[in-house]
Amino acid sequence: MKDQINTYLAEIEIFTAKTKDELEQFRIKYSGKKGILNDLFAGFKNVAAEERREMGVLLNELKGRVQEKIDTLRESLEGEQTAAGPARDLTLPVNFTDSGSRHPLMIIRNRMIEIFSRVGFTVAEGPEIEDDWHNFSALNFAPEHPARDMQDTFFIEKDPDIVLRTHTSSVQVRVMEKTKPPIRMIFPGRVYRNEAISARAHCFFHQVEGLYVDKNVSFADLRQTMLYFAKEMFSADTRIRLRPSYFPFTEPSAEMDISCNLCGGKGCGFCKYTGWVEILGCGMVNPNVLKNCGIDPDVYSGFAFGMGVERITNLVFNVKDLRMFSENDVRFLQQFESAWQ
Ligand code: DAH
Repeated sequence: MKDQINTYLAEIEIFTAKTKDELEQFRIKYSGKKGILNDLFAGFKNVAAEERREMGVLLNELKGRVQEKIDTLRESLEGEQTAAGPARDLTLPVNFTDSGSRHPLMIIRNRMIEIFSRVGFTVAEGPEIEDDWHNFSALNFAPEHPARDMQDTFFIEKDPDIVLRTHTSSVQVRVMEKTKPPIRMIFPGRVYRNEAISARAHCFFHQVEGLYVDKNVSFADLRQTMLYFAKEMFSADTRIRLRPSYFPFTEPSAEMDISCNLCGGKGCGFCKYTGWVEILGCGMVNPNVLKNCGIDPDVYSGFAFGMGVERITNLVFNVKDLRMFSENDVRFLQQFESAWQ
């Protein structure tokens, strides 16, 4: 009986009627006095007690489907056959629904994830409310180190151990504490700093951090990965340069520039006539950081990098004012509808 009902259900699903007559035949076949439904309901008393429940549900479903089919086909056949033309008035105004579009920052973030995932990086996330250890101490920021001033954040007076994270580097620590190398991951997320809001700075923004820890990871691996990223993100003829820099959590550390994507490196107002624009910080993971996270720096080495999503988005879409990203002005946001999603 069960198989039979399922066959009927499939038949009903695909049934369609071209004329009212065909529909009437269908109705008689299933819902007529001597129709299938009556037949099945009559046979229900013979169903074994333990199958009754399931069979009852199935039978009722079949009944519902038959009625549904009859109703929809009748409606559409009547619509087509009225002398006055189609039942639907095509001149009535339409209810427009805006499909919306992705936020430009998310378009770029997704693009970054896609680029890095192609070379084996997976994604992890961490909390925006951090503790001092993960945001600073484990990353080799000594308590009084001046580098902490460069990333002033919002502390909670009652408990200065709790901070809004200033960078996604904190997720490196969380991952390394829990995962054995090899680790090849990126960490996208929102970060906070105690900054006055202007066209170039905001009290919150977004970063994508990267980490690769394994045996024999070298600076050459870092450079090649960054070159790959720059070419994929901007254009195949993009060049990169690494300048020595300082971060407590990397040694050596570097600031990375790309050849200006507006003038191609010739020099213009945008790149201040240098031909280069800075896009990220990177370096070899400081052995102290590996040790703090329980990874033996004599066995493993790694590289890390961190970049601002706003910065890259500004460069790709030529947005000049950071504040536009959080003002929710649809005139701004709509311009990215057709950009790569
Ligand atoms: N965390 C740094 C910042 O917010 C960016 C950064 C620089 C991250 C170098 C890194 C790195 O992983 O290696 O300014």
